[in-house]
Amino acid sequence: MTILITGAKGQLGNELCKILGEGVSERGKLPPLYDGCTIIDIDVDDLDITSSDAVDAFFPTHKPNLVFNCAAMTNVDGCEGNEDVAYQVNAIGPKNLALACKRHGARLLHVSTDYVFAGNGSKPYVETDEPAPNTAYGRSKLAGEQFVLASCRNSCICRTAWLYGYVGNNFVKTMLRLAREKGILTVVDDQVGNPTSAVDLAWQMLLLAASKETGIFHCTCNGEAVSWNAFAKRIMEKASLDVEVKACTTAEFPRPARRPAYSALDNKHLSDTVGDSMRDWEEALDSFLEHYLEQENQQ
Ligand SMILES: NC(=O)c1ccc[n+]([C@@H]2O[C@H](COP(=O)([O-])OP(=O)(O)OC[C@H]3O[C@@H](n4cnc5c(N)ncnc54)[C@H](OP(=O)(O)O)[C@@H]3O)[C@@H](O)[C@H]2O)c1
Repeated sequence: MTILITGAKGQLGNELCKILGEGVSERGKLPPLYDGCTIIDIDVDDLDITSSDAVDAFFPTHKPNLVFNCAAMTNVDGCEGNEDVAYQVNAIGPKNLALACKRHGARLLHVSTDYVFAGNGSKPYVETDEPAPNTAYGRSKLAGEQFVLASCRNSCICRTAWLYGYVGNNFVKTMLRLAREKGILTVVDDQVGNPTSAVDLAWQMLLLAASKETGIFHCTCNGEAVSWNAFAKRIMEKASLDVEVKACTTAEFPRPARRPAYSALDNKHLSDTVGDSMRDWEEALDSFLEHYLEQENQQ
């Protein structure tokens, strides 16, 4: 089997490459389906997914059977001022890949976001809830989902949220840096969601890809949804940083893109089908920090 990973230098793409390369993750051993697979890991310099010509030329040459599309424009505020670019990367790119997958009989696992929802709920969203994005990022990602579902039947959309991994920038790393630089943190406590480890998401996607399931799947770490403030406090505690984490409101910390107040996701479709393998967010975070802080110490 030949597996194509786009956006391979990003948080999720990197984790998928690592697990596939090693055949094992801290979550377990990969299903036999992946034994001896060939991995093609590419990023924007190798293949710009917004170019249908480039995507169409790539498939007959490399003949992937399974595609994980981790490529995206993920800078939510950046998308707000550049909706055309966001649409190209987050909607047209997945469409190009989905059409190519359909033409070549490949299975497609595509990644989306909690930002497709309005974010004003009071209980976790399930896959059948109506999307109503409030941001350019959310609109572009929703359009990407729709193109994928319309263009390639053998596809899964994995919606995730508050993602952090070993490479790139994310909230966990930013909090560690700011805590060390400033010795005090002020973090919003009126936005609630599901912190999700790229380790768990990659593992769950590999299990899902090995099944015959299709459609939309919520894939976030489990446990009660929390605020960014509570998330930051847990990071400080686990990293043994004695830092005060003050609370502030979204109104006190305005950003170009409106953040969802409550965008927790319920992994219902996973539970009903292949099984929900996502750990509780605290367990996944503790494990991530153990490894990450150890890596830091070795540098
Ligand atoms: N990060 C989160 O908190 C979060 C939350 C919910 C959902 N998600 C979704 O999860 C998925 C993975 O996110 P992530 O955090 O791993 O993303 P990431 O770290 O930002 O990685 C995305 C990768 O895609 C590349 N890319 C950008 N434009 C491209 C193009 N036109 N063609 C090919 N590659 C391109 C990026 O390259 P450059 O860096 O050079 O641009 C980057 O290496 C995305 O679909 C994202 O929307 C993320």
